[in-house]
Amino acid sequence: MLVASAWLHDVGYSPDLVDTGFHSLDGGRWLRRERFDDRIAGLVAHHSCAWLEAEERGLYDVLVSEFPREDSPVADALCFSDMTTGPDGQNFEVLDRLAEIRSRYGPDHLVTRFIVRAEPEMVSAVRRTEARLAGSTPQPMYGSRRSS
Ligand SMILES: [Fe+2]
Repeated sequence: MLVASAWLHDVGYSPDLVDTGFHSLDGGRWLRRERFDDRIAGLVAHHSCAWLEAEERGLYDVLVSEFPREDSPVADALCFSDMTTGPDGQNFEVLDRLAEIRSRYGPDHLVTRFIVRAEPEMVSAVRRTEARLAGSTPQPMYGSRRSS
C-alpha cells in the first residue's frame, strides 16, 4: 500500500487528469475510476495533509465526502516519504523540505499558506515514522515543549 501510494501520490498533476485543479483530489478520483484499491485512492487523496490544502481551496467538504481519511502508520509513512524527498529525488530533512516548498511557491501562494498551516502535522508524521523506523516509542513531538 505504501509503495503503490507513494508512486501514485502526485498522479493528479497529470494534465490529462485535471478536474478540480487540486491534484490530491483529482488523483484520488482518477485512481477510483481506474479501479485501483480504495485504500490507495484514499491515501493519495489525503496525502501529506491534503485536507488542509482542500480547506484553502474550498474543497474540504468535497474531499472528505468522497474519500475516507486514514490515520495510520502507512499514512504517516507516505507523508514522511513525500516530505523527506525533493523534486529531483534528493533527500531532505523535513524542515528543509518545507522551506524548499515555501521558497518555490513564494510567500503569497495558496500552497505556501497550506504548508505553513500543515507544518506541525507534517513534522509530527515524519517524527512518528522516524521513531517507528528506529524501533522506539514516539516521544511528544512538535509544538509540545515541556516547561520546567
Ligand atoms: Fe502532492
